[in-house]
Amino acid sequence: VEQSYIMIKPDGVQRGLVGEIISRFEKKGFLLKGLKLFQCSKDLAQEHYKDLKDKPFFPTLIEYITSGPVVCMAWEGDGVVASARKLIGATNPLQAEPGTIRGDLAVQTGRNVVHGSDSPDNGKREIALWFKEGELCQWESVQTPWLVE
Ligand code: GTP
Ligand code: MG
Repeated sequence: VEQSYIMIKPDGVQRGLVGEIISRFEKKGFLLKGLKLFQCSKDLAQEHYKDLKDKPFFPTLIEYITSGPVVCMAWEGDGVVASARKLIGATNPLQAEPGTIRGDLAVQTGRNVVHGSDSPDNGKREIALWFKEGELCQWESVQTPWLVE
């Protein structure tokens, strides 16, 4: 089954948006497989964003992501990766549509409150990077038969 790594960034945690953001994925109907509050190291942040290592904003991105605790989540469901990106909205919150997380809750690219995997392969890679074995739960929601036919 497809999984996406969703992370509430330190600004989202500091601004008290954890419940609001989790709620949007819960209400949509995806299944929460893993969840933790976590202070990440520079090494982990650099590995997570390694595709961006040559960008001029890379050092400030790493500083931002390691500046306080983040909330790490693994969400599961058919099409969850692309759907989560839509729920999150455009990278630049000023361009993100109203109704999206960034469109409703943020104003700057450098403080865009949430991360979402950009492909199913990266979903797998990132979940393996941020969660240890045994940290994900195998469970079934009673809602599933009411969400998928
Ligand atoms: P993520 O879900 O966090 O991966 O965002 P994204 O996929 O919408 O954007 P991308 O992967 O291209 O960039 C990763 C993160 O780097 C963004 O979410 C921003 O936090 C940050 N970032 C990207 N571009 C810029 C920029 O031009 N300036 C700054 N300060 N940060 C940027
Ligand atoms: Mg990205």
